[in-house]
Amino acid sequence: MIEHKIEQLRQLEREALAALEAVEDREALAAWYRRYLGKPGAPASRGTQEEGDAGEKGLLTHVLRSIGELPKEERPAFGQAANEVKIRLEAAHETRAPALRQAEMERELERGALDVTLPGRPAGPGHLHITTQTLRQIYDIFAEMGFQVYEAPEVETDELNFGLLNMPPHHPARDMWDTFWASDEVLLRTHTSPGQMRAMRERCPEPIRVILPGKCYRYEQVTARSEHQFYQVEGLAVGHNIRMTDLIGTLTQFARRFYGPERRVRIRGSYFPFTEPSIEVDMDCILCHGRGCRVCKYSGWLEIAGAGMVHPVVLQNGGYDPDEWSGFAFGPGVERPAMLKYRIDDIRLFYGNDLRFLRQF
Ligand code: FA5
Repeated sequence: MIEHKIEQLRQLEREALAALEAVEDREALAAWYRRYLGKPGAPASRGTQEEGDAGEKGLLTHVLRSIGELPKEERPAFGQAANEVKIRLEAAHETRAPALRQAEMERELERGALDVTLPGRPAGPGHLHITTQTLRQIYDIFAEMGFQVYEAPEVETDELNFGLLNMPPHHPARDMWDTFWASDEVLLRTHTSPGQMRAMRERCPEPIRVILPGKCYRYEQVTARSEHQFYQVEGLAVGHNIRMTDLIGTLTQFARRFYGPERRVRIRGSYFPFTEPSIEVDMDCILCHGRGCRVCKYSGWLEIAGAGMVHPVVLQNGGYDPDEWSGFAFGPGVERPAMLKYRIDDIRLFYGNDLRFLRQF
């Protein structure tokens, strides 16, 4: 009798293992579990034969229930055999589950895999940054007045950035132009003016007419009008009989070509250690035409550049005899003129890398 019963168990195990092999997804695996081992966690008392083949307890329990048909002394052996089958089926289930998850994941990946035959998204053509565009407009204007572009390094020495420009150590004007220092001697230039000295020393004793564009750095509180990195375009002319009127004429031309032919220019006295006399060049406000508005702080005038006649000491440091030679220099920024021209109200937008801003120009 027990042999027959045990064979019944083995038959069930073989059938269950074969069915497990055929299972292909997690739903079928759960159905398999319910069929052979019963609803996971279902209390033992709830399974009844009326629930069908397997019921909530599964086919194994169903076979086990027939234990009552065996004589008492054979029951423990049968119970143990049934328990062993249960353990083996559960172990088989445990091994199958991760393999199925893996296979399913692979199918999923295949379905969602990149179709490399699709044409890629075309990279849109870029365009010149507003600073580069502005620089090129400035080069064009000065090129027509005979100025060459002269490039000088951004990393400078204390001597070129300050000393040779008539600002010896402890000169109070150095405070206005504090910067980032690499050592006691080496710094990031605070203005393009040290390029004046490089151009003079290289070109002496020839006359000079150059603009020196480039990036400058300052230890500065960043605000809507001030960055710690920005561009300037220095201008330098050295020759015989160069006068203040040449400087004013050059900057007036620049203002009219860059901002519009109707611009008027105003000169104010100023101070720079490397020019004498020094001036500040203003133009009438492009927004209110001199009537007064928020942009010009109700003065009617906007600053274009600091400028002046090259200081005799600076000429001498550059190799030119100030009794024979004279020159003028000027130093406008680049972002601030662009802000005025294109009505940009925050300098931080220039290098914020926001394409919505950059695409407007
Ligand atoms: C100078 O740097 C002088 N070297 C200019 C000069 C050259 C005078 C030659 C005489 C002869 P200033 O510090 O004012 O001057 O700067 C000149 C211009 O640089 C300013 O008008 C402004 O347009 C720009 N600029 C200065 N600081 C900043 C800043 N933090 N952010 C943006 N632009 C700036």
